[in-house]
Amino acid sequence: MSLEEQIYIRKSCRKYLDDEIDMNLIHSFMNSVKPLNDSIDYGYEILTSDRVNNRNRWSAPYFIAIYSEKKDNYQENIGFVFQQLCLFLQGMEIGNCWVGMASPKKKSPQFVISIAFGKSDDMTRESSEFKRKDITEISDIKDYRLIPAQLAPSAINSQPWYFKHTSEGFDVYQIKQNVLKRKILGKWNPIDMGIALAHMYVVNEETFEFDIKNDFENLKDYTYIGSMKI
Ligand SMILES: Cc1cc2nc3c(=O)[nH]c(=O)nc-3n(C[C@H](O)[C@H](O)[C@H](O)COP(=O)(O)O)c2cc1C
Repeated sequence: MSLEEQIYIRKSCRKYLDDEIDMNLIHSFMNSVKPLNDSIDYGYEILTSDRVNNRNRWSAPYFIAIYSEKKDNYQENIGFVFQQLCLFLQGMEIGNCWVGMASPKKKSPQFVISIAFGKSDDMTRESSEFKRKDITEISDIKDYRLIPAQLAPSAINSQPWYFKHTSEGFDVYQIKQNVLKRKILGKWNPIDMGIALAHMYVVNEETFEFDIKNDFENLKDYTYIGSMKI
């Protein structure tokens, strides 16, 4: 199955088997991913669960600890790059889940976020089981081409994305959270934005373009992230 097909059946996996995984699968796939911004250096390391502080009530045999140079838009870039990996893993019957609440025991200032993963027999679902905002809530005009973004995973299922049509494509915005929510979601929502953009890229691989314009419209309840062509 293609990466695209995974978008419509994936779910965050929280129930894992102990089977071993050939990590070369991951390393070779990572040589083919597309970045959102190719001037930001990033890296990752695969850790077994004993090397991770995990504050979730569930665990996984393996974690990918993700690191990045902390330049502008590095979080969107990390979401974009590593969601491609999540869809690939899903296709290899390797369940996965982004985890804000797990970090390597060995501290690093470059650490951004982790992804839990492992073999699983509980990692797919029916389309009716997605809990998502209505397509009309995430855009100024109802547009079914945005379904891949609508179905993207996000921290606490916050779905912070909003797409405004322009003559060339879309201006992409992130919801401004209130003070309380910002404490929790402030650092995860930019990753969520990158994840949603990755879904749009995977479905429109040949035509997808993303850039940051200077002449965008300011919207009261949203922060401009960039502009997308599909
Ligand atoms: C940036 C980010 C951080 C997340 N952190 C956690 C976490 O710490 N624990 C957890 O159980 N799920 C975590 N999730 C998974 C979300 O809860 C999940 O994506 C969302 O509820 C939507 O469900 P779905 O992925 O099954 O479609 C995280 C997701 C993202 C994108």
